[in-house]
Amino acid sequence: MHEGEQTPRAPVVTVMGHVDHGKTSLLDYIRKAKVASGEAGGITQHIGAYHVDTDHGMISFLDTPGHAAFTAMRARGAKSTDIVILVVAADDGVMPQTIEAVQHSKAAEVPLIVAVNKMDKEGADPDRVKNELAAQEVIPEEWGGEHQFIPVSALTGDGVDALLDAILLQAELLELKAPREVPAQGIVIESRLDKGRGPVTTLLVQSGTLRQGDICLAGLHYGRVRAMLDENGKPIDEAGPSIPVEILGLDGTPDAGDQFAVLENEKRARELADSRQEKMRDSKLQRQQA
Ligand code: GTP
Ligand code: NA
Ligand code: MG
Repeated sequence: MHEGEQTPRAPVVTVMGHVDHGKTSLLDYIRKAKVASGEAGGITQHIGAYHVDTDHGMISFLDTPGHAAFTAMRARGAKSTDIVILVVAADDGVMPQTIEAVQHSKAAEVPLIVAVNKMDKEGADPDRVKNELAAQEVIPEEWGGEHQFIPVSALTGDGVDALLDAILLQAELLELKAPREVPAQGIVIESRLDKGRGPVTTLLVQSGTLRQGDICLAGLHYGRVRAMLDENGKPIDEAGPSIPVEILGLDGTPDAGDQFAVLENEKRARELADSRQEKMRDSKLQRQQA
């Protein structure tokens, strides 16, 4: 294999939809995890990033909040993704953040698959969901459109296998590839200051391989990757394309959506971070004077 050779990579799938329509529950079922029940007020407040080895192949998922306040996160999610899963509760139908999610995925030109969730509930009406989404120009395949609608229940798991199949079928059509044997590049999913560990940053590697010890420049910040953890907090040595990873070692918290890249040496990373920070200060000053 030569350095820049393109190799197949897993799809990055962003889960979007109206608040409480079951995005996190669906991912919990797929991951056999219990994130949703532990969330404050039952509301997702940040983008969760996970990768899952299914019987059907590996898939990376970004979970976005449905709450109206999180428009920017949904927009970022749509931009950093290969496929959008739009979750619509069958007993509730199309709601404002459903429509907003359709708009984000269209703007990002990302294929969209509809998961019609909560099919176990008494008031479930999948035909209503189809009609309401058709009005947003999301037309089901069986009506001659280009969108798969998969009925599911995050509670019972019914339909989840079909949803995973639909994702991997769509991914195959996209022929997703990235070089593996090059310095890593990608985007910042989120970053926070941890009292004990300092800045903790979730990155999505988009190409190349990120390794412990790498010098990483992310937005206005840089540092040597001191430790790398997977989404379950388990230490890992490296992360290839499409893999989300938590890193320690940056000298600050970059913004969600910032690009990151691995550089050859610390001096260069510091110079770039310094000049970016200077530019930032200048433009702030100019705004204040204007
Ligand atoms: P936000 O992230 O806050 O936008 O919500 P969400 O879309 O992640 O929804 P969440 O997974 O938090 O689920 C909201 C509620 O719906 C919870 O009480 C879930 O238990 C319930 N729920 C989710 N999926 C299903 C389902 O398929 N069937 C039934 N009966 N309940 C479900
Ligand atoms: Na919720
Ligand atoms: Mg959620």
